[in-house]
Amino acid sequence: MSTLKTEVAQARQAAYPIDEVNLNRWSPRSFLEKEVPETTLKSVLEAARWAPSAFNFQPWRFIVARTREERETFFPFINEFNRSWCEKAPVLVLIVSKKVSDKGDFVSHAFDTGSAWGLFALEATRQGLATHAMLGFDQAKAREILGVPEEYAIQALVALGYQGPKENLPDGMREREVPSPRLPIEEIAFQGSFGRPLK
Ligand SMILES: Cc1cc2nc3c(=O)[nH]c(=O)nc-3n(C[C@H](O)[C@H](O)[C@H](O)COP(=O)(O)O)c2cc1C
Repeated sequence: MSTLKTEVAQARQAAYPIDEVNLNRWSPRSFLEKEVPETTLKSVLEAARWAPSAFNFQPWRFIVARTREERETFFPFINEFNRSWCEKAPVLVLIVSKKVSDKGDFVSHAFDTGSAWGLFALEATRQGLATHAMLGFDQAKAREILGVPEEYAIQALVALGYQGPKENLPDGMREREVPSPRLPIEEIAFQGSFGRPLK
């Protein structure tokens, strides 16, 4: 039995069999003003915790805003467009990564933290939640307001919560509230050397 979300089934078909959570995870902008239980949020963060990283350095850090007061601290560094929809999301998370290990080695902090965000997003989907990552915010302001030390790179801001109906969105955003397609495998995977078609 298919567990594909209706709007996903219309927009996304996997070319090869995969777990449907990969298709069901998408980035809506309509969120319900409904609290995420603390245990559910912890499950999402728990999944991120198990991401792989170089030397098991685990460079990812998550700054969570859940209360109204905490979220209002985030709003001033978010650009107008993103703020207009993410204000309703009950949880905002700034994801940052430690750039250098305790021994002073440069680590693959961005790559590894991207893995953690991927697991975070998939677990959120399994828990019935939606995620939407953002780069449209002022990183310097975020660093200053949230006290992020210089040795941490700012990676992305994420809205987390329960998906709302697209009808709740203003004109212009409503039409864009659809799951996006993907490039075919032939365009992203090569065989033997760069650009050589995968057999
Ligand atoms: C690092 C990152 C930054 C993004 N920044 C924004 C953003 O500032 N505003 C926005 O509306 N969507 C943003 N997105 C959402 C992407 O546009 C979206 O993930 C992409 O179109 C693929 O669609 P899907 O996530 O629904 O599969 C961002 C996504 C990522 C991963």
